[in-house]
Amino acid sequence: MGFVADQTRVIRSDDEQRDALLNAGWKIVARSWGAQLNADDTHTGQLDALIARVAETVTVRELVNADRAAMLALDASTASDYPGGIATEHPPLTDESATLHRRRRAFGAWSPDGELVAMTVVDVDGDRAETDFTVVARPSRGLGVGAGVKAASVKELLSDGVRVFRTGGSAENAGSLATNTSVGYRIDEEWLTLRLWSNVPFAGPPIDTAQRDGLRGVGLAVHPKGITPLSSPGAGYLPHPQGPPQ
Ligand SMILES: CC(C)(COP(=O)(O)OP(=O)(O)OC[C@H]1O[C@@H](n2cnc3c(N)ncnc32)[C@H](O)[C@@H]1OP(=O)(O)O)[C@@H](O)C(=O)NCCC(=O)NCCS
Repeated sequence: MGFVADQTRVIRSDDEQRDALLNAGWKIVARSWGAQLNADDTHTGQLDALIARVAETVTVRELVNADRAAMLALDASTASDYPGGIATEHPPLTDESATLHRRRRAFGAWSPDGELVAMTVVDVDGDRAETDFTVVARPSRGLGVGAGVKAASVKELLSDGVRVFRTGGSAENAGSLATNTSVGYRIDEEWLTLRLWSNVPFAGPPIDTAQRDGLRGVGLAVHPKGITPLSSPGAGYLPHPQGPPQ
């Protein structure tokens, strides 16, 4: 009896094991990037212009826990809109992940009839902030709203002492890349999602158990979800490796 072992790894594009993995049959199935904005490089005028551009169409403000139902509704209606692979996936918001506090903050845009049409959710750790995700309701895309909420979040967090801002996304996501670039982020790391399919002669327990108990022993450690980050992701884009950006 056999089965197809399907494993996924996320590595930096300059990882020293990259060529060895590709030669061993791993295939690149997705690319992603991380980007940084340093407080010293921010231009207040640029942020203000992005916020002002949408001031007549939406009201942008920091979200509070009373907004949780609106956050969950916007998240649910856009759940399938995130391009890319496992490295940039967006898990659905839960009551817990939509709960805001000093280390988890969110900024949103409201339409004149009181609908939340955009939000960006940011994890803050001391003087560093990492965007968890940003989303705009479909009918409101391409109007500057995404850039507006991101600019508002950077401006507010700057005034609270944040010095380093990180974000990231899928290489397939032109909208995300353009939005972050317009706010001032610069790409400083690229990630590859590698996948290996192989026929493994096997008779025994289901694949998860087999991966856990068997393949790990030959150096193919497998995360419960089938993901094996080769290197520490730092601020890169793994599904919450240390708890990161997009
Ligand atoms: C990515 C997303 C948040 C962008 O929001 P948006 O409100 O549509 O973006 P904006 O209108 O503010 O555009 C900002 C800039 O990006 C550009 N842009 C927006 N969408 C684009 C696209 N699909 N392709 C190329 N450029 C795009 C705009 O032209 C604008 O550039 P400019 O400032 O030079 O005029 C939105 O498309 C979205 O919600 N996508 C689904 C969820 C997602 O992928 N989120 C990102 C990963 S967490």
